[in-house]
Amino acid sequence: MNTTTTSPKKVCILGATGSIGFEVTVHMLQAGFGALAVVRDTDKFRRMLSAQGIDDLEGLSVVKLELFAEKAVADPSVAQEMMACDYIFNAASKPVSLVPWSRANREWGGVVSSLTRDIVEIASQNGRKPHIVAFCGTEYFAGYDGKISFVRKAMSKLINKMSAALRDNRDEAILLLTSGYGRWSVFRCGSIQPSSGQSGDASRIGMDLHKDGSDYRLGKGKSLVVEDLAAYLANAIQSGAFSGFEGEMPFLFNTRF
Ligand SMILES: NC(=O)c1ccc[n+]([C@@H]2O[C@H](COP(=O)([O-])OP(=O)(O)OC[C@H]3O[C@@H](n4cnc5c(N)ncnc54)[C@H](OP(=O)(O)O)[C@@H]3O)[C@@H](O)[C@H]2O)c1
Repeated sequence: MNTTTTSPKKVCILGATGSIGFEVTVHMLQAGFGALAVVRDTDKFRRMLSAQGIDDLEGLSVVKLELFAEKAVADPSVAQEMMACDYIFNAASKPVSLVPWSRANREWGGVVSSLTRDIVEIASQNGRKPHIVAFCGTEYFAGYDGKISFVRKAMSKLINKMSAALRDNRDEAILLLTSGYGRWSVFRCGSIQPSSGQSGDASRIGMDLHKDGSDYRLGKGKSLVVEDLAAYLANAIQSGAFSGFEGEMPFLFNTRF
């Protein structure tokens, strides 16, 4: 008799009350993984679960944390729980503004990339290597073929100038790429539609103007709905396909900075 059992994967989600974070949490739990949901407002998180008719999810633990307070994740008890996870999804973000002179922009302070930097540091101190997962847009990098047109370059520069949040996502991606950490993936998604009950199209993930000319933002093809993204990620972990994303920015591989 084979008595070998593999313990279920455990996934940590930073910002589990957010658009991406919440769906990722629910889908990971539904896939049978353990989930450590890190939120700043536990009541809000419970209300969100209740609104979906989910009152009790086996395998869920919740930690309350002001994630963007300095070195928040270095708190020993938080760090220990996080490092017991196989995957850490950084889906925390302050509210985004595209108005350059807005307070949100001026006071942004690189919070998302700092959080990821702290996780990389804690992991190396603990001799652990959870797979770090981040999300950023598609617009700010070169295309599928590694090329970037003049117009696109100018647009990217403008967008990056306008939004500290987008710059921060980009910095986070560059940090992971250059860190030597290795076990990370940055999922590059165009704007993800909130839950709407409509079925989306997971093949939209990472697809932008470059690959086949289809761009849902131009009314071609369906949009990527956040549930599709979360379901895709859970399936990829379950099937083992996720390891293929290690050190990558799916699905635009020829990324240049
Ligand atoms: N949504 C998209 O279309 C899209 C596309 C590409 C990339 N991304 C990137 O993906 C990441 C997640 O995006 P999202 O749209 O899911 O974000 P979101 O809906 O705004 O969620 C942000 C999460 O961060 C939490 N948060 C904010 N300030 C916090 C603080 N001071 N301490 C602790 N937690 C805090 C929020 O908590 P509260 O609920 O309590 O406010 C929420 O859980 C971002 O980096 C974003 O740039 C998003």
